[in-house]
Amino acid sequence: MRFRLLGSALAIDLGTANTRVWARNGQPVVRQASAVAYMVGRNRCVAVGAEARDLAQRQAQNIDVVEPIRRGAVADFGAAVAMLRTFLRQAMAQRPLLSPAAVVSAPVETTGVAYRALRDALRAAGVSRVYPLPKSLAAAVGAGLPLDHPESVLVIDLGAGVTEIAVVAMGMVTAGCSTAFGGIDLDEAVRRYLWRTAGLQLSRAAAEDVKMRVGAVDPALAGNSMDLSALAPPGVEAKISASELAGVLAEALEPLVDQAQWTLEQLAPRQREEISVNGGVLTGGGALLRGLPELLSSRLGLRLVVAEDPLSATVLGLGAIASDIKNMAFDESRLMRMGLRGWHP
Ligand SMILES: Nc1ncnc2c1ncn2[C@@H]1O[C@H](COP(=O)(O)OP(=O)(O)OP(=O)(O)O)[C@@H](O)[C@H]1O
Ligand SMILES: [Mg+2]
Repeated sequence: MRFRLLGSALAIDLGTANTRVWARNGQPVVRQASAVAYMVGRNRCVAVGAEARDLAQRQAQNIDVVEPIRRGAVADFGAAVAMLRTFLRQAMAQRPLLSPAAVVSAPVETTGVAYRALRDALRAAGVSRVYPLPKSLAAAVGAGLPLDHPESVLVIDLGAGVTEIAVVAMGMVTAGCSTAFGGIDLDEAVRRYLWRTAGLQLSRAAAEDVKMRVGAVDPALAGNSMDLSALAPPGVEAKISASELAGVLAEALEPLVDQAQWTLEQLAPRQREEISVNGGVLTGGGALLRGLPELLSSRLGLRLVVAEDPLSATVLGLGAIASDIKNMAFDESRLMRMGLRGWHP
């Protein structure tokens, strides 16, 4: 069947920490925190996106802040729908579409239940048809890989809740896995370390702030040490040095390194050869951690580069695929072949 709908398709990357929506040509029109704030009791939604995350950080009274996406999957259906409705309205402010179709990212290894929750949330928010594509394929295209690149390239998408490690060739994911590891696990490692060594009880947001401001896997690349006294009880002095933090982060990253090594080990010899020549690309916000590209390149023995805009690579790729499909008059079976393993419409 000929594809008719994608002329007016949106691209949506619904992430654990951030949601991005692309409407046409160029940059994503929505880059928002994946969060919804309700009055206690949930009878009224008071804020969505960055504003809702702000309310969570300020621990506003009478407000419950919900993060509808957990580890890349819809965890709170009602909140996911409320959030998507708002973001779709923002994305279509300039170009209103009646029941748009949408190309959306989904983990390469998804379950029927998780996929249906994603599809149903999008439909309830007003999307007429949902076309899911593997996150890592979209991320590779968003990082600049031509969709029909014939040889294998490695993609590591390090998000807030999920890391996808996949091999992409000829517009398909030919091997790979999604693992429940992401930036929030690094934040958690920082939190626990500061609690154990300094008795500090940091919020998740404060731990993330420490990671982003001082954090690096190699102390030589780190920011200066950070004074945490403002976060400690009155009269208690607390500080974290760059080298301390580098040790904590490097240790917390070990499961990811292990998973990537294991995934590479499982590949067919030809895939491994092509990857050793072509290398790979790092996407997702985690790719911005200083020293991470160098650490992964050396531990995997590969040349890995960070995408130009790692936080938006997936949605840019989805958008490029949506436009390409229209231009190239792809048929639906082509889209199916690019699609998710184990998934059927
Ligand atoms: N400069 C930085 N240094 C370290 N980590 C960073 C930096 N900037 C963003 N991050 C981390 O990137 C993560 C968010 O990335 P991203 O938006 O790609 O995730 P997501 O798409 O919402 O999640 P997922 O794909 O796992 O569902 C957060 O954990 C954040 O702490
Ligand atoms: Mg993501």
